[in-house]
Amino acid sequence: MEESNRMKRLPLYLFTIIDNLKKEARDRGMDIIDLGMGNPDQPAPAHVIAELCKRAEEPDNHGYSRSIDSVETELRLAVSKWYKRKFDVDLDPATEVLPLIGSKEGIAHISLAFLNNDDVALVPNPAYPVHFNGVLVAGGILHNLPISAENGFLPDFDSIPPDVLKKSKMMFLSYPHNPTAATATPHFFKKAAAFCEKHGIILINDLAYSDIVFDGYTAPSLLQVTGSRKAAIEFHTLSKSYNMAGWRIGFATGNADILRSLAKIKGYIDFGLFKPVQYAAIKALTGPQDCVHKQVAIYKKRRDVMVSALKRIGWDIPKPRATFYLWARIPDKYSALTSMEFASLLIREVGVVVAPGTGFGEYGEGFIRFALVAEPSRLEEAADRIRKILEMET
Ligand SMILES: Cc1ncc(COP(=O)(O)O)c(C=O)c1O
Repeated sequence: MEESNRMKRLPLYLFTIIDNLKKEARDRGMDIIDLGMGNPDQPAPAHVIAELCKRAEEPDNHGYSRSIDSVETELRLAVSKWYKRKFDVDLDPATEVLPLIGSKEGIAHISLAFLNNDDVALVPNPAYPVHFNGVLVAGGILHNLPISAENGFLPDFDSIPPDVLKKSKMMFLSYPHNPTAATATPHFFKKAAAFCEKHGIILINDLAYSDIVFDGYTAPSLLQVTGSRKAAIEFHTLSKSYNMAGWRIGFATGNADILRSLAKIKGYIDFGLFKPVQYAAIKALTGPQDCVHKQVAIYKKRRDVMVSALKRIGWDIPKPRATFYLWARIPDKYSALTSMEFASLLIREVGVVVAPGTGFGEYGEGFIRFALVAEPSRLEEAADRIRKILEMET
C-alpha cells in the first residue's frame, strides 16, 4: 500500500521514537519520569467535571451536535465574554468565534482551507509541529522563519526573500511560545500585523498558553492589535488553562470571513463537539477562575524548582515568564550529540523523558524541552539523575 505524496512529505514523527524508547526502558523495569509531552498531569476543575457528568445524564445530549444548537450559541457567547474580560476585545459571538475539537484540528484545517499548491505559509522554526505539518498535509509550500535566542525567538520579517513574500498567503505565530517559552509584546504583534496587511497575508496567532504566565507578565492577544476587521485570527484551547487536554475543546476567534472558511471545511470533515463537553466548557470559561490561578501557581513552583535543581548540577537555563516548558541548550559535554541522541541517552540511561529540539523543526537542534508535568519532588529526582549523565565518563 503506497501512502499519498502528502504523507511522504511529513517529517519523521520523533515522538513515536521517544515513545518506543520509553516503552523499552519501562519494560527493563526502569522508573520513568516523563517530561516529554506537554500533557497536563492535573485533572480538570471539579465544577467542570460535575457539569460534564450532569449533562451526560441528559438523553438529548448524545446526538450529533450542530452549529445551530442552543448550546453552541451559549458557548460562542461565553467565549466572547471571556475575550472581553481578558483582553478587552469585542467579538460577535455568531461570526467571530468558532468552537473547535481542540485547537490542533483548527490549526491543521486552516491550511487546508486556504493553501493552494503554489501558496507559501511562513512558519517560525522551531514551532508546535502542526503549524508546519498542517501546511505540508494541505500541499502548501512551507517557508521556515528561523528563530533563536539571539533575536528573542521572534522571526525577522526582513529576512523573507521577495519572491517568497509574493507567494505568501499565511503566517503562523504563537506567543507565549512552545517549545521555547518565549513571549511577545503588543508592539511585535503590531509590527507583524502591519507587515502581513501590507503583503496580503493572513496572520494567525496560536495563543494556547495565554493563562500560563508568571511574575506579573500578561500575554497579549493579537486581536487587541488588529481587532476582528483585519485578516487575522487567533487559536485558543481549554487544554492547558483548565487541564482539559483529553476533552478536545478549543476555539478560533477573529476575522469572520476567515472563520467562515474554516467552518466550511470542517463541515465537510467533522461534526460539532459532544454537547456535555460544550456545557462544561461554558462553566470553565464563565465560572470562578481561581482554578486557573492555582494551576499557574503549581507551574511557577515547578519552574523555580527545576531551574534551581538544574543550576545546582551545572546546567543553566533561563527562567521563562510563560508556558510550562524549559527550553534547554544541550550541555557542552554532549554538544556533539544531536538532540535526538541526547534525549535517547537520558531515557535509556536514567529514565528521564524529554522532547528533542528537532521534534519542533530543524532549528530546534542543539536543544531539548522539559515539560513541567510532574510534581516538584520528581523534578528534583530528574535533575539528580541527569547529574549522573553529566558526570559520566564519556
Ligand atoms: C502551541 C500549542 N497549540 C496548540 C496545542 C494543542 O492544543 P489542543 O489540545 O487544543 O489541540 C498545543 C498543545 O501542546 C500547543 O502547545
